Amino acid sequence: MTNLDQQAFWTDSAGPAWVALQREMDTLLAPVLDVVMTRAKPGVGERVLDIGCGTGDSVARIAQAVGPSGHVTGLDISETMLRHAHDRLGFLPQARLLLADAQTHRFEQGYDVILSRFGVMFFDDTATAFHNLWSTLLPGGRMVLAAWGAAPDNPWFMEPAAAARDVLGPVPKVDRTLPGPFAFEDADGVLATLRGAGVTDPTVETLDLMLTPHGTLADAAELCCHIGPADSALQYHEADAEGKAAVKAAIIGRFAKFDGPNGIHIPAVIHVFEARKPS
Ligand SMILES: C[S@@+](CC[C@H](N)C(=O)[O-])C[C@H]1O[C@@H](n2cnc3c(N)ncnc32)[C@H](O)[C@@H]1O
Repeated sequence: MTNLDQQAFWTDSAGPAWVALQREMDTLLAPVLDVVMTRAKPGVGERVLDIGCGTGDSVARIAQAVGPSGHVTGLDISETMLRHAHDRLGFLPQARLLLADAQTHRFEQGYDVILSRFGVMFFDDTATAFHNLWSTLLPGGRMVLAAWGAAPDNPWFMEPAAAARDVLGPVPKVDRTLPGPFAFEDADGVLATLRGAGVTDPTVETLDLMLTPHGTLADAAELCCHIGPADSALQYHEADAEGKAAVKAAIIGRFAKFDGPNGIHIPAVIHVFEARKPS
């Protein structure tokens, strides 16, 4: 998939689902944003670049952290996602939304912080993208990127995929090394690519955390029928309403083990890549 294909995907296909389910996705992924914010620590007056900001949850958090004397640029390739980010953010003088390809955009200013929640695994040329991004980081600036860890360690993807396979049958095998949610699962490979792109001494930490979907098991399963591998399988098999209901029931069954008295907690593994530019 080229970046142009990604643009079409995130504008016309995935984008509308992410917009419709923005609250649910933000609740689900809140623990990941907490990790990124805690590590990047954008401070008052700083200039921050948020890569693949999507519907803008992170942009709002960063704008609050940097205050009116700071600045955040939320960059995304999807007009659909950015339009929604714009509508929900309203007017925030310190926030700007930029429709652009992070891999090739020529930045006009430097940044103290570059960060991303799950927005950097989709480049068709990761080395070129990070050469470009690193060049816009100011001396002393820091970069913090969250990406999914190994797919088998992430039941949020594996269980719906298995449920859909049980109900509908197999789908063509996906090459996870290609641009997509798991393109950064080989953390050592990513570190080598980052070094090759000129990033100084990148590190990675692999973290276990819990995803906290909103609502009931049925709500979580419904979300999976619109975003992720179960959605892809439903589309591939051109499933009807009955097929979708059966997949949803199968996901509920598989997620039941994660439901407890304190709500649903789905284990997840993410990689957090960090680097600091020499002063
Ligand atoms: C998995 S979504 C994450 C969105 C958001 N960061 C969040 O956590 O809710 C990935 C985002 O990366 C964006 N994206 C993909 N390729 C991109 C590129 N080349 N340049 C900028 N954004 C890109 C997509 O449009 C999408 O909004």
